[in-house]
Amino acid sequence: LTPLRKILTGARQIAKGDFSGRLDIKGLDELGILGKDFNRMVSSLNEYFIDSLAGGWVLLDPHGKIVSVNRGALNIFHCESEDLVGKPHDTLIRILSVNPSLESWVEESLQNKLERSLKELDAVNRDGRHLKLTFSTSQLKDKDDNFAGMAITLKDLTRANEITEKMQRTDKLAALGEMAAGLAHEIRNPLGSIKGLTQLLREELKEGDKAQVYTETMIREIDRLNGVITTLLNFSHPSQNEFRFCDINKLLERALELINVNIDDKSIQIEQVLDPSLPAFWGDDKKLVQAFLNILLNAVQAVNGSGEIVLVTRFDPNHIINEDGLVTGAIIVQIKDSGDPIPSEILPNLFDPFFTTKKDGTGLGLPITHQIVTLHGGTITPLCKNGFTEFNIELPVAEQLGKEPDLEMVQKVSYEV
Ligand SMILES: Nc1ncnc2c1ncn2[C@@H]1O[C@H](COP(=O)(O)OP(=O)(O)OP(=O)(O)O)[C@@H](O)[C@H]1O
Ligand SMILES: [Mg+2]
Repeated sequence: LTPLRKILTGARQIAKGDFSGRLDIKGLDELGILGKDFNRMVSSLNEYFIDSLAGGWVLLDPHGKIVSVNRGALNIFHCESEDLVGKPHDTLIRILSVNPSLESWVEESLQNKLERSLKELDAVNRDGRHLKLTFSTSQLKDKDDNFAGMAITLKDLTRANEITEKMQRTDKLAALGEMAAGLAHEIRNPLGSIKGLTQLLREELKEGDKAQVYTETMIREIDRLNGVITTLLNFSHPSQNEFRFCDINKLLERALELINVNIDDKSIQIEQVLDPSLPAFWGDDKKLVQAFLNILLNAVQAVNGSGEIVLVTRFDPNHIINEDGLVTGAIIVQIKDSGDPIPSEILPNLFDPFFTTKKDGTGLGLPITHQIVTLHGGTITPLCKNGFTEFNIELPVAEQLGKEPDLEMVQKVSYEV
């Protein structure tokens, strides 16, 4: 075949959707260069299609060595191809913390050429993210139909699960909102009279009467109940938003000052790694302080008297914020504590209203925080990383609604405790 004809045949093959062919055109003349460019184009197309397939691929040779990994898999594992390619398949299990029996499952699939799949596999990637994966194996054959290894296909269901959860949460919250407003009304007024009567009762009692202590406890508990109802009302009917340009570092410091009141124990170390060059953030400062405060309170409770709490802020200029692929920057706030990790079985419930594992908890701290972060278009993710429990908050610095930050306006208001 003449070089031109080879190119023509190659182009027709691609038009039919077959990307496997490569042209054999030698020479340093223009046709030779065209042939090389053509092959390069086909390779890029190939990579593009393989990479854009939803999910990840890992190809193993018949001895279980990793020979190729696509971008989707690298994203799931949160590593680069050098970390995997050329290594034995158990590297996958080491990079992705999963049930160790997965290693023998892969080995068995390889030895017996089994095509099978695992659904809803819990895993934690290098970045500390909890994932739900499907994990399947299928045989690879060479052109003579001989066994040439295994393909492992991975699908990250986390996103899909998150969307379902979000929808369920929205339903739950709407129902809760209605219920809360009704309940608050029904409970608050009688509670007011119970408190008044208890106060009267206390006055009737003689000094030193044991029942005085009881009445004091009753009043304290009534106040606590009232507090819960107020929090619940705020949650179901949040106050009006007051957006202004804020300095996220200052808001975190403000939240820290508020919890310092709760820490008398000096064996809690607080470290701050705050990026001084964060851009101003368009948000509701009071609500943001509330959100940070709720996480910090949990952190203080988690370290339980001694341990470390770390606050980190940084700016990520190339943060992808939405599914349309719109790229803007984001302020990343990380609040970490060295307390016991969050058991993975309670992770799905963390943001559910009234979910608590604490004796005196109301389980509204994280749902309120979630609500506030969502109000600002952000995301909040619990992570478990290097011995720390981390809440990672990503706040997109979008167009800032066309406003230019006026530094005078960056708030330094005071907050009520
Ligand atoms: N930093 C953390 N470390 C370990 N577990 C945590 C942490 N933060 C939250 N949790 C878990 O999540 C649960 C829900 O937290 P949330 O703040 O919503 O409620 P709470 O702290 O129990 O009560 P409240 O905040 O209303 O006083 C907690 O009970 C706890 O089990
Ligand atoms: Mg809490």
